Amino acid sequence: MSNPKRLIIFDTTLRDGEQSPGASMTKEEKVRIAKALEKMRVDVIEAGFPVASQGDFDAVQAVAEQIKDSTVCGLSRALDSDIDRAGEALKKAASGRIHTFIATSPIHMERKLRMTPDQVVEQAVRAVRRARNHTDDVEFSAEDAGRSELDFLCRVFEAVIKAGARTLNVPDTVGYNLPHQFGETIRQLRERIPNADQAVFSVHCHNDLGLATANSLSAVINGARQVECTINGLGERAGNAALEEVVMAVTTRQDVFDCKTGLDTTQIVNCSRLVSNITGFAVQPNKAIVGANAFAHESGIHQDGVLKHRETYEIMSAEDVGWKQNRMVLGKHSGRNAFRARLTELGIVFDTEEELNDAFYRFKELADKKHEIFDDDLQALATDVSMATDNERIKLVSLKVCSETGETPRADLVLAVDGAEEPGAAIGSGPVDAVFKAAESIINSGAQLLLFSVNSITSGTDAQGEVTVRLEKGGRIVNGQGADTDIVIAAVKAYLNACNKILGPAERAHPQTGDV
Ligand code: KIV
Ligand code: ZN
Repeated sequence: MSNPKRLIIFDTTLRDGEQSPGASMTKEEKVRIAKALEKMRVDVIEAGFPVASQGDFDAVQAVAEQIKDSTVCGLSRALDSDIDRAGEALKKAASGRIHTFIATSPIHMERKLRMTPDQVVEQAVRAVRRARNHTDDVEFSAEDAGRSELDFLCRVFEAVIKAGARTLNVPDTVGYNLPHQFGETIRQLRERIPNADQAVFSVHCHNDLGLATANSLSAVINGARQVECTINGLGERAGNAALEEVVMAVTTRQDVFDCKTGLDTTQIVNCSRLVSNITGFAVQPNKAIVGANAFAHESGIHQDGVLKHRETYEIMSAEDVGWKQNRMVLGKHSGRNAFRARLTELGIVFDTEEELNDAFYRFKELADKKHEIFDDDLQALATDVSMATDNERIKLVSLKVCSETGETPRADLVLAVDGAEEPGAAIGSGPVDAVFKAAESIINSGAQLLLFSVNSITSGTDAQGEVTVRLEKGGRIVNGQGADTDIVIAAVKAYLNACNKILGPAERAHPQTGDV
């Protein structure tokens, strides 16, 4: 059986995280994040929901092929077709897991599934058996366990363990539970299920009441040995438990927890920045562990204390979670080999030599504008290259913006739409407004702008600005990103990136809305 002193960290950034509106990722982006998670020594990486679309299948397959040190997992409903598709996507994994689920709460069974409890048990058992035909490593989730009846949960879990499930996941799907209550649920399940010792208990908490981390930790205190979480707490609605919070709480409070994770915590900040850069979901400055202010001591009293003795005001060190590792790496005179070597260290591998050439060219252009190129600049650059190779229909050819005191800003730009160049011009209340209107005069996307945000990637006035644009059309939400030392150019890149997505292929299936 598994080691009771070890807490398994199951990262679902690429699956539940991707369910955040606008956070969808390409295959290349998922592989980049998966490599960063592997480098951090995450135990299990849930890479997606293979039956959702061909794109999702390809992404799970690519992650399964390239990740060697972490288990790669694919989600499936308790349906033969879902399970077989997940099995197929994971075929080449060094270690592959199928995660199958069905809802067990009265409200989900009656209103969503329209199934009786007996039918749910039967379907759960059938799904686990089917999954065992593909792999020995099968996880079963009782969706909405947080609002399910304890007796029924015991019955379902006992049956799926007999059918071959090795991990039993207890999701608080709607973030309804309170820590003392959720911990008690885990304790009772472990006590009452006769074959409980044959499986690892896992939890998956959503953050609707801001309690996802607290609930997960309470479960660990009561014997859960796997926590499902995401980088930066990304995920459906208010998100999932944040990996960095769970891991650092367990690591810092070893006086309370009787288990440890196997993670290299110095990789946490890198992973956080990568996920934020790729998804366009900025990290709030006061976010625990990974927020820009998490280790900043503003008040004089605190600074004085920290200088005299760090532990007066700090319970962890910034270095332990990877702050201050964003050292200056390359400059204008750095050659191709140094560039490639640093990318490899960061886990960035391009599929083709052409992409590497493109990246190197962009790096030289950036180094001309900016003396010091930091790791975060390289991550943004890699995102730019993968977006450019992502069959973008609309590309920026040129842009001229006039902004002068007392005058109305004006933008003139040329876009290439499906290869044909088209000019556009507009005035606006500011340069960004003018540029977006000029672009829209050509694209006619009809999308509504939900969010426009600018962040500085590194410090200094020569830093690249990283812009996120969120657009909505017909209920579909997408995020676009762009980075440049000129923030107006970064803004138009982000706008075009979002337009390319919104005009792209239709949505894929959502795992938790379909019928079983
Ligand atoms: O929140 C949830 O219940 C899920 C399951 C699919 C595990 O994401
Ligand atoms: Zn979830």
